[in-house]
Amino acid sequence: MTPVTINHLVAGEWVAGAGDVVVSVNPAHPGDIVAEGHNATTAQVDTAVAAAAEAFRAWAATPTHQRGAVLLAAAQIVDRNAQAWGLELATEEGKTKAEGIGEVRRAAQILRYYGNEGDRQAGEIFSSPRAGEQILVTRKPLGVVGVITPFNFPIAIPAWKIAPALVYGNTVVWKPASTVPVLAIRFAQALTEAGLPAGALNLVIGDSETGTAIVDHPRIDGLTFTGSTAVGRRLASVAATCGIPMQAEMGGKNAAVVLDDADLDVAVEQVMLGAFRSTGQKCTATSRLIVTDGIADKFAEALVERARALRVGDPTDDATEIGPVITDTSRASILAGIDTAVAQGATVLAGGRPYTEGPLAEGYFIAPTVLELDGSPAKVWSEELFGPVLAVRRAADADEAFELANDSEFGLSAAIFTQDVTRVLQAMEQIDVGVLHVNSESAGADPHVPFGGDKKSGLGPKEQGAAARDFFTHTTTVYLRGGRPGV
Ligand code: UN1
Repeated sequence: MTPVTINHLVAGEWVAGAGDVVVSVNPAHPGDIVAEGHNATTAQVDTAVAAAAEAFRAWAATPTHQRGAVLLAAAQIVDRNAQAWGLELATEEGKTKAEGIGEVRRAAQILRYYGNEGDRQAGEIFSSPRAGEQILVTRKPLGVVGVITPFNFPIAIPAWKIAPALVYGNTVVWKPASTVPVLAIRFAQALTEAGLPAGALNLVIGDSETGTAIVDHPRIDGLTFTGSTAVGRRLASVAATCGIPMQAEMGGKNAAVVLDDADLDVAVEQVMLGAFRSTGQKCTATSRLIVTDGIADKFAEALVERARALRVGDPTDDATEIGPVITDTSRASILAGIDTAVAQGATVLAGGRPYTEGPLAEGYFIAPTVLELDGSPAKVWSEELFGPVLAVRRAADADEAFELANDSEFGLSAAIFTQDVTRVLQAMEQIDVGVLHVNSESAGADPHVPFGGDKKSGLGPKEQGAAARDFFTHTTTVYLRGGRPGV
C-alpha cells in the first residue's frame, strides 16, 4: 500500500503540516508505513480555531434540518466506503478487518442518528404559574468545540463527538490520535464531500502539543475528550481554569461477574469477546473477571481453552481473531504489567508473553492473557493496562462478587452472567457503573442512549443520545408574555 499523505483540514483547505515529521505504521508489520507527513503547528491550530470561529455564525444560523442533511449525506459516503476504509482501519489500528468494517458502518449509523436529530424537538415549552405567560427553553450551540479523540476507535468515537457537535450548530477543531491519521482524514473527507461548509470542521493532526494548543486557546468554547485518565484530568483542569465545559471519557477496569447459575457457553463466549476483541484496547473491555466458586473451575477451564485457541495474527487476514496492540511502547507497558502481576502473586492461566519467533515476532502482538489472582493486592486488578489481559478472582457468593466488582476507582461498564432476575435487580442496584450488560459482554454503545462512566471513569456530562444534546448546547429559559396585559 502506498502511504497516505497526512494533510490537515484548515478553513476548508487540505494543507501540509508545518511541524515535525509524523509517521503512522502498521502495528502488525511496523516496517510498513501507512501514512506520513508533518504535524500541525500551534500557528496552524490558531488558524483552524479562527476558521471555526468565523464559520460559527453562519453554521449556527443554518436550519438544523439542513445541518442534519449534511450528516445524512456523509453517512452514505461513509457506508459506501466501509470495505476500503475498514481495511485501512485494520491496517493502521490493528483490530481485525471485520471489526474495522463494522466500526466504519457504526460511524455511518451514528451520523444517521444525529442527522435525523436535525428533525427532532429543539427545545421545550412549560406552562407558567402566572397568567398570560409561557416559559420556553430554547437551545443554542456552545460555539467552537475542541474534540480530542483516541486511537482505539479511529472513526466511531470521532463520529459520536463530531456529529452531535455539528448538528446542534457548533463548529469543530479536532485532533485525533496521531497513530490513526488515515481514518481521521477519511472521516473529514466524507463530511466535506457531503457539503459541510469551510471552517465548520477543522482537522489538525499532531501530538500532545497540538492538543494543548487547542485546549488553551481562548476562543474554544467547549471541549470533549476520550483517552487516558491522566491526560483527561490534566485537560479538565485546564478547561476549568479557562471556564469552559468539558466532557472527559477516561479509564475503565470493567468487571464481568459470572454467577453459579450462568449459562456457561454464553458466559465464556461473551467474556472472551469483552476481554480480547480489539485486542482488549477499549475503555469498555473486560479486564477483571469475578467468578463464584460453584462454577469457577469449569468456567476457568473453558475460558482458558478458548483463549489459547484464539487466532492471533495479521488483522487483514480473514481467519484472524486478534490483532496487535497499537505501539511498541504500549506492548512494553502491557508486558511489564503482566510481569508485575506475576511478581505480585498472579498465576498465568493463558498467554502472558509476546511472540519471539515466527511471523508475529515483528509486530506488536501479545498472546491473549488470563491471570488468576489470589486476593493479595495486585496492580493488574486496579490499573488499566489497555491490552488483552484478563485478571480473575473467585468469590464465595454473589454478594462478595458484587463487592469485588465495585473494588475499583473506575465505574465505566460491567457485565453480569446469571439467569436469576433477583440477582440482576441486585446488580442494577449495587454495581456502580455507567453501563451494565446482563448476559452480554461489557463493551458496546448505541448512539441513542447515554454512554459514560460512574466514579472516576468520566468527568462532566455523558455522551450520546439526549446526553450529547445537553453537552453540545446551552439552554435559554425565556419567560414570554405579550406586550399588552392579558394577551
Ligand atoms: C464500545 O464499547 O463499543 O474508548 C465503545 C473507548 C470507549 C468507547 C467504547 N470510549 O473504548
